[in-house]
Amino acid sequence: MLKRYLLAPGPTPVPSEVLLAMAAPIIHHRSPDFLPVLDSAKKGLQWLFQTRNDVLILCSTGTGGMVGAVNNFFNRGDKVLVINGGKFGERWTKICQAYSLDVEEIIVEWGYAVKPETVEERLKKNKDIKGVFVQASETSTGVYHDIKALASIIKKHDDTLFIVDAISALVAHDLRTDEWGIDIMVGGSQKGVMLPPGIAFVSVSEKAWQRAETSKLPKFYFNFKKERENLAKNQTNFTSPVTLIIGLNESLKMLQAEGLENVLKRHERLAHVMRKAVQAIGLGLYAKESPSNAVTAIMSPPGIDGQAVYKNLREKYGITAAGGQDKAKGKIFRIAHLGYTDRFDVITAIAGIEMVLKGMGHPLKLGTGVAVAQELLMA
Ligand SMILES: Cc1ncc(COP(=O)(O)O)c(C=O)c1O
Repeated sequence: MLKRYLLAPGPTPVPSEVLLAMAAPIIHHRSPDFLPVLDSAKKGLQWLFQTRNDVLILCSTGTGGMVGAVNNFFNRGDKVLVINGGKFGERWTKICQAYSLDVEEIIVEWGYAVKPETVEERLKKNKDIKGVFVQASETSTGVYHDIKALASIIKKHDDTLFIVDAISALVAHDLRTDEWGIDIMVGGSQKGVMLPPGIAFVSVSEKAWQRAETSKLPKFYFNFKKERENLAKNQTNFTSPVTLIIGLNESLKMLQAEGLENVLKRHERLAHVMRKAVQAIGLGLYAKESPSNAVTAIMSPPGIDGQAVYKNLREKYGITAAGGQDKAKGKIFRIAHLGYTDRFDVITAIAGIEMVLKGMGHPLKLGTGVAVAQELLMA
């Protein structure tokens, strides 16, 4: 038997409480049974998103939420600014281009965070930028972009929306939607929210709803105005992902019992320990600044293929992590500490990394990183 440990940056492990809740018989999404279920999820999401605005619940993966964040608020030819510092930044560009927006990019070197001053200058020079798109946590590089600083710049521009992909950052980073002024924020179920894949969440500010009135891009499945009208009646536009929403209530209950501050602290601490432990083994971090609390991208030692590390972790020890994407492929492997994770997940990951690297001939003393993690986790 090979016991499996899921330490990938999505999908992430689902707690048994949530799995059991989802074993309940299916209820009809237009029946009175479902209304309180959706009402509770709706309120819980407002708590999680730190917003008083609507948080739409879409039956799709996170990318569906990203698509909706484009086709509901813009028009053909609108100038938008995409902060592209990795695979998911690139995805914003591709979606915007698919809808014929006029995309300007700030290309950020992989492993680095965008400099807020660069965004400020770009907005000053181009008064017609209608939206700025960014990732909170760029999962492909393990970098966190400073959302608070960016929001404070963008909110000075009345005609510019701030759109944040928080798919991997939600619960791992403090994202104060209303307080900071994030207009549209996208989340996904299979990350920090501890659910299977299948729902996207999107919060929408009043400023963004006003903009939606002027958007003429085609919309059918992702029609946010219709979703908003349905949400007000505790419904979704099409058949609701009933089982996932029941599970969502359970995971929100668990997160609320822990408290948002504690949830955030747990992620910060686990990420810190992971970084210190891999550095103690002599490995570098791919994030040269502002590392993400959701995922750590680790440089594979010279001469050792990052994809092989990822493969060995899974095949020899049952640990599913992630490899590198695109230009980082082969150079890195990534370990998540996101959602339903605790101290021994970090220890498992470090122990596994040490065993794999040693097995691949990399000189290291077994237990070095584990000991550092143990010390830090006991402190
Ligand atoms: C930052 C970020 N954005 C977008 C996505 C895409 O989400 P999905 O695969 O749920 O469509 C992911 C998934 O890994 C992600 O980490």
